[in-house]
Amino acid sequence: MTIDIITAVPELLESPFGHSIMKRAQEKGLLNVRLHNLRKWAINKQAQIDDYQYGGGAGMVMMCEPLANAIDELQKDQPYDAIIYMTPDGKPFNQQTANQLSLEGNLLIICGHYKGIDERIRTKYVTMEISIGDYVLSGGELAAAVVVDAIGRLIPGVLNDETSALFDSFQDNLLAPPVYTRPADFRGDKVPEILLQGDPKKVEEWRFEQSLERTKTRRPDMLGDL
Ligand code: ADE
Repeated sequence: MTIDIITAVPELLESPFGHSIMKRAQEKGLLNVRLHNLRKWAINKQAQIDDYQYGGGAGMVMMCEPLANAIDELQKDQPYDAIIYMTPDGKPFNQQTANQLSLEGNLLIICGHYKGIDERIRTKYVTMEISIGDYVLSGGELAAAVVVDAIGRLIPGVLNDETSALFDSFQDNLLAPPVYTRPADFRGDKVPEILLQGDPKKVEEWRFEQSLERTKTRRPDMLGDL
């Protein structure tokens, strides 16, 4: 899977994809994240990519031309299954969307800054708008990092134990159960006996009950009318 990201601040995205699981996914050739500096398509020598907004008001708007030229040029090399704009007024991101996007071949992600991007780019080029939560970040880069991480770990072969993503919170509309590791007794606080007994069926039942209980108390909205 290839994910191209257009950003005015590529430095913000170098670290999130340069370590751990995302780094390994790229080394294995399963994920190819390419950062494109929007200033390469700036309209003048001053590297301008934004301008004042028509109608007045504080905050700059990212201009049409650099974005359109960037998208046109990148699109020449490969068609995109989705052109995604990261924005707080987009569709709230969730596990279901991550699952869907992890099945795609080529994605293009646009990171906004300042007041956002010119509306004409949104209507003409963007096919999907994603928000990672009801708060405003200073740019779309951190949001893009969240989305790419959530998608990338779902690509088959990226996680060592392929099945482990299946048991994540949200995959079955339940939160994940509590987990424990050594020591079995930490300052008098003991690991639940059932996990030490080695009966996989009982462990599975216990985990399911814990997941259900956790979801009921923390996220009853996820259970709907159950
Ligand atoms: N850009 C700024 N805030 C954002 C958010 N909450 N989600 C996605 N992109 C953003």
